[in-house]
Amino acid sequence: MQANKFTTTWINLRESYDMLSRSNLLQNLYKNNKMNLKKVIDLGGGNGSFLRWCHYKNIIYDDFLIVDNDEALLKSFYPRTKSYLSTMSLSLVKDNMMSYRIQSLKKNKDGFITLKKQDLYKSIDIINDYNLVSFSAVSDLLSKKFIKCLFDKIDKGTNLYFSICFDGRVKWKNKNKHDKYIVSMFNQHQKQEKTTGVALGLNSINFIKSLSKKNDYKIYIADSSWSVDSYDNDSRIFQKAYLSTIYKPLKKFELIDQDILEDWLRSKQIDIESKNSNLVVGHKDILIET
Ligand SMILES: C[S@@+](CC[C@H](N)C(=O)[O-])C[C@H]1O[C@@H](n2cnc3c(N)ncnc32)[C@H](O)[C@@H]1O
Repeated sequence: MQANKFTTTWINLRESYDMLSRSNLLQNLYKNNKMNLKKVIDLGGGNGSFLRWCHYKNIIYDDFLIVDNDEALLKSFYPRTKSYLSTMSLSLVKDNMMSYRIQSLKKNKDGFITLKKQDLYKSIDIINDYNLVSFSAVSDLLSKKFIKCLFDKIDKGTNLYFSICFDGRVKWKNKNKHDKYIVSMFNQHQKQEKTTGVALGLNSINFIKSLSKKNDYKIYIADSSWSVDSYDNDSRIFQKAYLSTIYKPLKKFELIDQDILEDWLRSKQIDIESKNSNLVVGHKDILIET
């Protein structure tokens, strides 16, 4: 799998943890003025996890555009979202493969959703047609060049929301003597040539902060870390999948000691199987009022 590719299985697995972890920064912005979320663009939106979270939090928009370059993820938007919305008495009407309407039984106003298969750089051209630009679980993939382009292009009044930004912390309650080494290798490996240039990894958070300050934008930061136990089957499946997201790239990383990696993996697998693995993955939400 390429460094920029995310399987639908992984994206679906992480959704419930992301749902519970996002902070209330965006709800506060919405409560202050509903116009702030009238038109939303979600860049690298995958199969619409952020849109479903907006519904979970009762955030109502008029138009929502999801941009991603992964066709398989965009395709899985409809079945997953239709099924999610049906639990809220909302129906999702498909006008065509890329255009949908949300109809509520109670309200007589439709919400429009459009999907677009497009690269992130290309999408920067249209951000100022929206009130909110969202990046969910995307910040660590971005390069300095991309974030600079974004800040150069954005107009006053178009707000930015980076949610679930990986901050480099991965902590297990049941420690292994190699945790620190593996996590530092993982963070190093993340800063590779990826989808928009050399990815900033955890440093993206400080870079976003510094550009916001330079531009005199108001910036709000809150914790959105995952906290996962291993008592039930779902959490064990999730932890194993997360372990793979660390192990698989490091397996191909020339700088790592492969024996340590294998030993470490085995000990983590044993902890998960014996329901003895409590995991925290550090994330931040960043809201910027331009
Ligand atoms: C970690 S996933 C997050 C997906 C989604 N935002 C979520 O919260 O579930 C990163 C997403 O960025 C997309 N992506 C990465 N590089 C991209 C690019 N150059 N252009 C468009 N989308 C890109 C991937 O296809 C993937 O859907």
